[in-house]
Amino acid sequence: MADVPMLEMKGITKRFPGVLANDNVDFDLYAGEVHTLLGENGAGKSTLMKVLYGLYQADEGEMRLNGEPVTITSPTSAIEHNIGMIHQHFMLVDTLTVAENVALGLHSSRGALTDLDAVSEKIVDLGSQYGLEIDPAATVWQLAVGQKQRVEIIKALYREAQLLILDEPTAVLTPQEVDQLFETLNQMTADGRGLIFISHKLHEVLALSDRITVLRQGRVTGYTTTEGATRASLASMMVGRDVKLAPDKPEVETGSAALEITGLRVIGDRGNVVIDGLDLDVRRGEILGIAGVSGNGQRELAETIAGLRDAEAGSISIAGTDVTNGRPVDVRAAGLAYVPEGRMKDGSIGLFTVAENLLLIDHNSKEFLDAGLLNFDAIRTHSQTLVDEFAVKTPSLDTPVRSLSGGNIQKLILARELSGTPNVLIASQPTRGVDIGAAEYIHKRLVAQRSEDTAILVISEDLDEIFGLSDRIAVMYEGRIMGIVDTSITREEIGLMMAGVTREEAAAG
Ligand SMILES: Nc1ncnc2c1ncn2[C@@H]1O[C@H](COP(=O)(O)OP(=O)(O)O)[C@@H](O)[C@H]1O
Ligand SMILES: [Mg+2]
Repeated sequence: MADVPMLEMKGITKRFPGVLANDNVDFDLYAGEVHTLLGENGAGKSTLMKVLYGLYQADEGEMRLNGEPVTITSPTSAIEHNIGMIHQHFMLVDTLTVAENVALGLHSSRGALTDLDAVSEKIVDLGSQYGLEIDPAATVWQLAVGQKQRVEIIKALYREAQLLILDEPTAVLTPQEVDQLFETLNQMTADGRGLIFISHKLHEVLALSDRITVLRQGRVTGYTTTEGATRASLASMMVGRDVKLAPDKPEVETGSAALEITGLRVIGDRGNVVIDGLDLDVRRGEILGIAGVSGNGQRELAETIAGLRDAEAGSISIAGTDVTNGRPVDVRAAGLAYVPEGRMKDGSIGLFTVAENLLLIDHNSKEFLDAGLLNFDAIRTHSQTLVDEFAVKTPSLDTPVRSLSGGNIQKLILARELSGTPNVLIASQPTRGVDIGAAEYIHKRLVAQRSEDTAILVISEDLDEIFGLSDRIAVMYEGRIMGIVDTSITREEIGLMMAGVTREEAAAG
């Protein structure tokens, strides 16, 4: 490492109305290294980087580049200082080609046509140098997400970025794409660039970083070199207490198959086959994890079981009752509880209050009816019990659900769905976008439900979650189960299966 850091940020404070987004933050970066900013949602990571990139002005603090004080007032001035930023949400124009997107905003005295040829040539060069192959003539809307990200990175390299900020770049990628991205990033640090990596995925952070700074509620709460750091040590810095990343799972004797699916075939919204000859059993007392990249039929599978979508062929039964193409109320009556992945869309109704949401499935239950009228006292008592038991942080039972955090909405839905004793529970992406502390609690509840002899289907893109919870793992790819494996399988093997490679091929390397 050089003596002088390429970047020093000292005492950065940034306020928004009512929010202290960055509170006296120090951060630095040397050429040739990856320094990760780690923290939960809302910790202030993006804000700090937007200050660096000139999108926000800090209220207090100073920045130096290569030892010289600088004021960065706009992205244009950031680019002039050889700073590039890959945003969480891509900033590309869909209707233009790759080359046109890269050329956009470049200053040139020459004609546009000549320029585009030169731009294309350089895109190909950069692509082969950094493993970012892309067709410069392709139109952006045709590209897959991973390819769009390549365009963003090429754009930054084209502008000669020496310091590159990557804000949650892996959130949209498959495990294979993540590996590929990391190779690219390692190549860039080997060439002397400095990278700021933002993530909350602990194993990725450990795999890529040289140093790690942890933010919590706008403040630096931890700093470590990667050597000697563990997932557990990072998690406790993020949360401010010790956390269990994988729940304690007691031995449970599994019972009969409470969920049985045979030969299921489902047509998707665009008329294509999204589930194709799928067989699956989940037994009482077990958690079956479905691993896979989103968009391989997982959502449709859950919706078809829940009666929200029709099966074209095949059968589904819950605790021995055939529920194929049943109405949602019938499936519920057979003993299904369902925690959907789109929390605000399907799982809760944002304008309704906490108490009203907790009642959504129980409104016909005798307990809450008094001569045909809703018994509001009974409802409130019931709701308060659930809120307490599930540690939902809400100002009151009358708070509209949309003003709660993602983790608390998720706990609320779980509280509602687990308030009976379901035969089968489907939890889709149960901790997506949820804080580590809330995730820990949700996992504990799922494991507790397993001990109550519920058959549990957990659908998740998060492999740590799949490994931590599952008794068996089914890997889903293009509407089929690629294989059912136990948790001794390696991350690499499962990653390959998620990309459509069979278990035998994956095991053969
Ligand atoms: N433009 C903004 N206006 C008001 N509040 C904001 C704005 N951007 C971020 N915040 C708030 O600042 C805090 C930090 O947000 P952010 O930097 O996006 O966190 P992270 O990237 O770590 O998830 C959050 O409380 C967020 O709601
Ligand atoms: Mg962010």
